[in-house]
Amino acid sequence: MRSRAPLCLLLPLLLLLPALGPGVQGCPSGCQCNQPRTVFCTARQGTTVPLDVPPDTVGLYVFENGITTLDTGSFAGLPGLQLLDLSQNQIASLPGGVFQPLANLSNLDLTANRLREITNETFRGLRRLERLYLGKNRIRHIQPGAFDALNRLLELKLQDNELRVLPPLRLPRLLLLDLSHNGLPALEPGILDTANVEALRLAGLGLRHLDEGLFSRLRNLHDLDVADNQLERVPPAVRGLRGLTRLRLAGNTRIAQLRPEDLAGLAALQELDLSNLSLQALPHELSALFPRLRLLAAARNPFNCGKGQVGPGAGPLELEGVKAPLEPDPKALEGGGEAPPGGLECEVPLMGYSGPGPQGPLPAKPYI
Ligand SMILES: *[C@@H]1O[C@H](CO)[C@@H](O)[C@H](O)[C@H]1NC(C)=O
Ligand SMILES: *[C@@H]1O[C@H](CO)[C@@H](O)[C@H](O)[C@H]1NC(C)=O
Ligand SMILES: *[C@@H]1O[C@H](CO)[C@@H](O)[C@H](O)[C@H]1NC(C)=O
Repeated sequence: MRSRAPLCLLLPLLLLLPALGPGVQGCPSGCQCNQPRTVFCTARQGTTVPLDVPPDTVGLYVFENGITTLDTGSFAGLPGLQLLDLSQNQIASLPGGVFQPLANLSNLDLTANRLREITNETFRGLRRLERLYLGKNRIRHIQPGAFDALNRLLELKLQDNELRVLPPLRLPRLLLLDLSHNGLPALEPGILDTANVEALRLAGLGLRHLDEGLFSRLRNLHDLDVADNQLERVPPAVRGLRGLTRLRLAGNTRIAQLRPEDLAGLAALQELDLSNLSLQALPHELSALFPRLRLLAAARNPFNCGKGQVGPGAGPLELEGVKAPLEPDPKALEGGGEAPPGGLECEVPLMGYSGPGPQGPLPAKPYI
């Protein structure tokens, strides 16, 4: 029988096929399905989302696939999807309602695409969405109300886009908002209707000042980043933030002075970043102002420091790259005369550091 031999040869090939062919074992071509109900498409190249994803899939990772377009049917068969990673593709627009079938989706990552616009239809139907990552796109326009239906949203990241205006954000559960590196030189007071927000990133927006009312409703704010703006002084809006544990002011190179009253009321502060300002000195009362401070970064300021003296009242601080003179204590100057030469200029001691030893001055750590 001549037909038998080819069949025998084919058999091992047929056994191999499931690993190569599309759709076999319910795993799309170019993807891996080693974890239950999770599809990783890392080696795959295609301009669309794979169509043959198993319907019970909970996590779909299709980052860096070369995807350019999504259409309204892209996710029609995936009602149980909870995580969708579409980052690092070339998606330029999202059809209205494209995610509508994904009523159980909690994480949507669209970082590093080419999106230009978000409308009030883009995220329609995402009732359970908790994390929405839209950073590193080219978003210029967000229609008012675009996020209004996302009332479970906890994290919204819009950093590194081209926003010049921001619609009011009404997100009662939101904990993290990242707007950094956009062109938003002013933020109107009522714009952040996010009463629960804990971390607010406003770095690199071109802000010249912060409206005093901007944070007034944000009772839970712990972490505020206003680095790399054009602020000329510590904004008064910061004063009342009693729950703040972390404050980044770095890179506001116009700030030339810190007055104790600018920083009053921040008694919970644990981390303060003053790198790359134009400070000649740190306020004398620093440790009294911030009894809980454990990290002070103040590299790249025009400090002019004398050698190896520990300043009065400086307290144990962990310092990165700092040789800081303290401002003269007014009491020390009472009774006439100037500060003794070099007497009040000092290195602020490091936590657990027992004073200048034979190893000489502390090495400066670069700010990370
Ligand atoms: C959506 O989530 C709910 C609650 O976790 C679950 O009961 C339901 O089965 C999920 N729906 C689908 C289609 O997986
Ligand atoms: C979306 O915006 C349009 C105007 O462009 C408006 O007519 C419509 O009511 C809005 N839809 C929602 C759900 O807000
Ligand atoms: C200091 O801040 C300015 C303004 O934000 C920025 O352009 C510059 O790169 C910063 N310098 C360093 C060394 O980080």
